[in-house]
Amino acid sequence: MADTEFDVIVIGSGPGGYVAAIRAAQLGLKTACVESRDTLGGTCLNVGCIPSKALLHASELYEEAHSGALAKWGVKTSGLELDLDAMHASRLEAIKSLTSGIAFLFKKNKVEWLKGHGRFIDANTIDVGGTAYKAKNVIIATGSSVMPLPGVTIDNEVVLDSTSALELAKVPETMVVVGGGVIGLELGSVWRRLGAKVTVVEFLDQILPGMDGEVRKEAAKILKKQGFEIRTSTKVARIERKGEKAVLAVEPAAGGAAETIEADAVMVCIGRRPNTDGLDLDKAGLATNKRGQIEVDHDFRTGVPHIYAIGDVVPGPMLAHKAEDEGIAAAEIIAGQVGIVNHDVIPSVVYTMPEIAGVGLTEEDAKARGHEVKIGKFPMLANSRAKTNKEPDGFVKVIADAKSDRVLGVWMIASVAGTMIAEAALAMEFGATSEDIAYTCHAHPTHSEAVKEAAMAVQGKPIHI
Ligand code: FAD
Ligand code: NAI
Repeated sequence: MADTEFDVIVIGSGPGGYVAAIRAAQLGLKTACVESRDTLGGTCLNVGCIPSKALLHASELYEEAHSGALAKWGVKTSGLELDLDAMHASRLEAIKSLTSGIAFLFKKNKVEWLKGHGRFIDANTIDVGGTAYKAKNVIIATGSSVMPLPGVTIDNEVVLDSTSALELAKVPETMVVVGGGVIGLELGSVWRRLGAKVTVVEFLDQILPGMDGEVRKEAAKILKKQGFEIRTSTKVARIERKGEKAVLAVEPAAGGAAETIEADAVMVCIGRRPNTDGLDLDKAGLATNKRGQIEVDHDFRTGVPHIYAIGDVVPGPMLAHKAEDEGIAAAEIIAGQVGIVNHDVIPSVVYTMPEIAGVGLTEEDAKARGHEVKIGKFPMLANSRAKTNKEPDGFVKVIADAKSDRVLGVWMIASVAGTMIAEAALAMEFGATSEDIAYTCHAHPTHSEAVKEAAMAVQGKPIHI
């Protein structure tokens, strides 16, 4: 094979693309990955999951020390100061070590990084920087970018998107978050913990669309207790910059009188849209749907059988782990193996404190699909470890089918819900009943015992409530 010919060319090196490329190479396929950024890893490693979690961790440590929470443990501090530059340096260090880790893994697995923007010349040929590369198979993993709010200009100083909101050089006194979804609550938490007064403006009547109703309500209650102002059923009509401030005109979502809010910073986070601009999909015989996504079948094949698409650019939740699993499956299918992703069991986690997590059906969805359900709930207040750690907020909710007892969904709010939800996902992947979870021995004292107790509550027999 010539140097410019490959079994697989992956376009995009986010968690979908880089994982697909590594798996394809591991399976003996000559593989290249096209990436236009200076570093590998896509949104997730450069401006998404990783930098946001670095700031969430650092800001939580600051708040614990600053709020006196550490003092309650007998850890006294004095002369406490916020060094935001050092916090940003830690964020950048995390990005650097992980993105260079992917470059190392590419070398180790002999994945060639084609640096530059990729676009189709035809269904088997990709142009990168003026060179035409031939591919037997192509995986489109171009991800997504920030959805703009019509009429609003992101200036990255006062009117921010999620990327500039990660990079603020100073803590704003007041911040408005437009969109009470995952990014708004995570990055809103970062700046609130560091001292900003944060107001969330959400169009719908509740924050966190897609999550279980009880979880959404309880999350709002907890976040308000932490100091968030949450204005639901409210839309932003305009955002104007006046000097160093932003002035927002907000009005009831159902229509009505507008009112003005002034803030030092506004973060627009109303969702993300797939990246297909400049790919010249038409030259490969492909098109996007109304939402700008590339439609695929069960095997991640587009309308052109040797062209696959995965991750944020295809329909489904925009999550790194979903993209990764699709990347592995697509590579395995190309290699002639059976690649499968169970889209019914994709966990989602919001990394606030406490964390909010879920997998499977919400109670509302389960009922809408005609299931008669049995529900078991267990409050974190009654979990010995959470109580010891002074983390009383939240609960675990197990939703099971009333007839078969099969677990349909698990939702929770708990300090380590992001870790606890893996157990629920594994149980559901294996078709567990609530009884299976209830009779599985869980280590004591752990937060995970709350999952067992919630499953026992489905049976009507929890011990600690
Ligand atoms: P991406 O990660 O978007 O990568 C696509 C890559 O393709 C990019 O690097 C882009 O430069 C490149 N590219 C695009 N077009 C071309 C082209 N034509 N030629 C060459 N290169 C191209 N998800 C989670 O699961 N957990 C989290 O905690 C989490 N936190 C997030 C926090 C923030 C602030 C944001 C914005 C997102 C977060 N996400 C999180 C979502 C997650 O980042 C995405 O779901 C994930 O990155 C999608 O992976 P992907 O491989 O589909 O695409
Ligand atoms: P989102 O879809 O989670 O939330 C957007 C919110 O904005 C919704 O509640 C929506 O109702 C609201 N909204 C839409 N238009 C509005 C308007 N004009 N005015 C007021 N509110 C409006 O999108 P978000 O937070 O931007 O995140 C994008 C994607 O990134 C999500 O799909 C998410 O899955 C992913 N992500 C995942 C994370 C995680 O897994 N922890 C962390 C951050 C992002």
